[in-house]
Amino acid sequence: MRALVTGATGFIGRHLCRALTDAGDDVVALVRKTSNREGVAARAFAIGDVTDPASLAAAVADVDVVFHLAAMLGSPWHPDFLTTNAVGVRNVCSAVAAAPRPPRVVATSSVAAAGPARGTRTEDDPPAPVSRYGASKLAGEQAAREFAARVPITIVRPPVVFGGGDQAMLPAFRMAARGLAVAPGRGRVSLIHVTDLVQLLRAAGVRGETLTPDGVGAGIYFGGADESPAIGELARRIAIAVGRPRALVVPAPAVAVWAGALIGEAIGRLGGYDLFSRDKAREALAGDWVCATGKARDQLGWAPAAPLDARLAETAAAYRAAGQL
Ligand SMILES: NC(=O)c1ccc[n+]([C@@H]2O[C@H](COP(=O)([O-])OP(=O)(O)OC[C@H]3O[C@@H](n4cnc5c(N)ncnc54)[C@H](OP(=O)(O)O)[C@@H]3O)[C@@H](O)[C@H]2O)c1
Repeated sequence: MRALVTGATGFIGRHLCRALTDAGDDVVALVRKTSNREGVAARAFAIGDVTDPASLAAAVADVDVVFHLAAMLGSPWHPDFLTTNAVGVRNVCSAVAAAPRPPRVVATSSVAAAGPARGTRTEDDPPAPVSRYGASKLAGEQAAREFAARVPITIVRPPVVFGGGDQAMLPAFRMAARGLAVAPGRGRVSLIHVTDLVQLLRAAGVRGETLTPDGVGAGIYFGGADESPAIGELARRIAIAVGRPRALVVPAPAVAVWAGALIGEAIGRLGGYDLFSRDKAREALAGDWVCATGKARDQLGWAPAAPLDARLAETAAAYRAAGQL
């Protein structure tokens, strides 16, 4: 397939470009002028910005599938946050709709758009995000739906994504390697290893059900590992993965999570960094984030290729190989 990948220089985008290239696909990576494209596995690069509609038309014109990953995950106070996450989806879908032969679009949303679960959330449950990030990703989904009659669009909502190259879970692995595993919140959480996620994205791009103008769950897929451990249990498993099975697992009470969020946000706002914030605290303390994976398995023939503990060990090894642990 000929594929365009937006967000190609990000954590998931880099893995997706590598997997598509390895599968023999012809990959064009959409990058900004400022993006660090070193090491991105693509045949060609197209310069574009998802907030600039004019920059997208040529890039989407001659491909079979657009994998849209570009987004801002942190800094929810940033003026570009909603524009990137919601208007960005609209701009990509609008450019695709205007193409002579509109390609398929696989838009990467998030479990945050759906919101926390009482029990296990399915694609058909009405979304109820609790964070600005989740609301921005849901706004992106709604923008995509406006094009459902003209463009074949599939939405994939990953839960927490982990694997080599991920900066978000690196601190948890580092702390565990020093003998301390902190567990913020008590809920259960679904996770997906990035290698499994990129296979899910590719399957969605080949044979995914597509959005309909008014269906709630049609055209949407969750994906996740076989198990959804409680945060404390996950912390313990990370400790085992880094070779510290006796690490101290410390539950962080809500007050500590909020304090960490306020400090992280203050430093983040001052320095322009993307650290822990009140938005992330809201998600951490919202309860269970467990999503059903049956639809992806049944309809796409997708399944994680390895169990959770093996993936955590793989991730620890990747961090170690990169000198990060
Ligand atoms: N990581 C997770 O745990 C997770 C979980 C659920 C869903 N997701 C979703 O998966 C997708 C990828 O996440 P990620 O973890 O790979 O994010 P990431 O590492 O932060 O990468 C973000 C990517 O988006 C690009 N980007 C940002 N603004 C852009 C713009 N205006 N125009 C063009 N490109 C822009 C960045 O380019 P530069 O290199 O130029 O900055 C970068 O390539 C996102 O849609 C995210 O919401 C992620």
